[in-house]
Amino acid sequence: MEAYILDWLNTMIRFAHFITGIAWIGASFYFNWLENNLNRQAGQKEGIAGHLWAVHGGGFYYLEKYKSYPNELPKELHWFKWEAYFTLITGFALLVVIYYYNANSYLLLPNSSISAITGIALSFFGLVLGWLIYDSLTKTALVNKQNIIALIMLGVVALFALFYQQFFTPRAVFIQIGAMIGTIMVLNVFFVIIPSQKQLVKACVDKADIGNDLVFKGYIRSRNNNYFTLPVLFIMLSGHFPMFYSNVNPALMLVLIFITTVLIRHYFNLKGEGKKGTSLVLALVVILTASVFYALMPQKRVLSENAKVVEYEKIATIIEKRCATCHSSNPRDESFSVAPSGFILDTKEQIINAKDAIYSRTIASASMPLANKTNMTDEERTNLANWLISLSKEK
Ligand code: HEC
Repeated sequence: MEAYILDWLNTMIRFAHFITGIAWIGASFYFNWLENNLNRQAGQKEGIAGHLWAVHGGGFYYLEKYKSYPNELPKELHWFKWEAYFTLITGFALLVVIYYYNANSYLLLPNSSISAITGIALSFFGLVLGWLIYDSLTKTALVNKQNIIALIMLGVVALFALFYQQFFTPRAVFIQIGAMIGTIMVLNVFFVIIPSQKQLVKACVDKADIGNDLVFKGYIRSRNNNYFTLPVLFIMLSGHFPMFYSNVNPALMLVLIFITTVLIRHYFNLKGEGKKGTSLVLALVVILTASVFYALMPQKRVLSENAKVVEYEKIATIIEKRCATCHSSNPRDESFSVAPSGFILDTKEQIINAKDAIYSRTIASASMPLANKTNMTDEERTNLANWLISLSKEK
């Protein structure tokens, strides 16, 4: 029953997290696009910086951007903030339901030297610390040197990932780093962007000078969020594909993902602003992606020369004891009421059909059995490996 409830919570919160995330990032992409596409040619109306015509969903739209603020504060002014806040709230709830609630299975490495509570505390304070570091950095004079900020943030990602991978499962390291960057983005909205917009509204009411400082503060944080978006999305997504973290050092992979996705964003920004250098950035993205593609390519499996022939019966016993507690149409494990990911290993046919998946999760990486809950031995892994390799040779 408990597992059943957790699955429902997981599904519902994830659904909400998706929707709020899409609404938030969608709006931010839209406004970014708007900025890049405003018609700013001479001859705009008094006080207007630029305008734009668009057609969408059965109607024409006309938009204007003010240089500072309108003469009178409009009665109805739309704000964009709850999408961001709810993305953080639902994201944190997911972290709790999946990683904190089952910390021993999902958060911590098998035989980790720290307790579940310590792991959860490390994860939570990491989110806070990530923000404090970024926020302090952006309050220094370095804010005018965005390239340096980008490099420092890359270093921060690398150091945190190196730290967390001592204790956390590779997948949890991915989620932790994704959540840290995501938290920075939402807190940027909460602590800087929205307050500076409130000041802007106040200036409009008081007919006061806005001052460049205020505009700049909000602008820089939005701009940084714009660059953080793609790394966060990719990191959250790649956590579902073990190839990105199981045979490689998760920290190294995260650094590569961060660089590549930030460059992709940079490419689109340069392009949108009509600036030079797009080909160079694009070339870098292609080279980096191709290198990762090559590095992650599955190796050809070779049977060691003195490997023993392993009979299927022996393998059947191993799978039954070590995997089918969870991966069965009728799991015995108390945490699962149905087979995780619908992956079932009850019959010989199912096992043979799943040979590549079994290889990737049990041999190429040791991400299964989950947290090695069923105490699979190295000898069993070797037997399983030899059997799987001889199986792929037959065909
Ligand atoms: C304690 C429960 C548990 C045990 C025991 C277990 N697994 Fe899993 N397995 C999971 C969970 C939970 C997932 C989904 C999360 C994930 O993909 O990491 C999963 C996912 C998988 C997947 C990915 C399936 C897919 O389609 O995405 C494979 C393959 C797998 N397990 C193989 C195995 C093998 C082989 C064993 C035995 C050596 C094993 N598991 C033992 C819990 C378990």
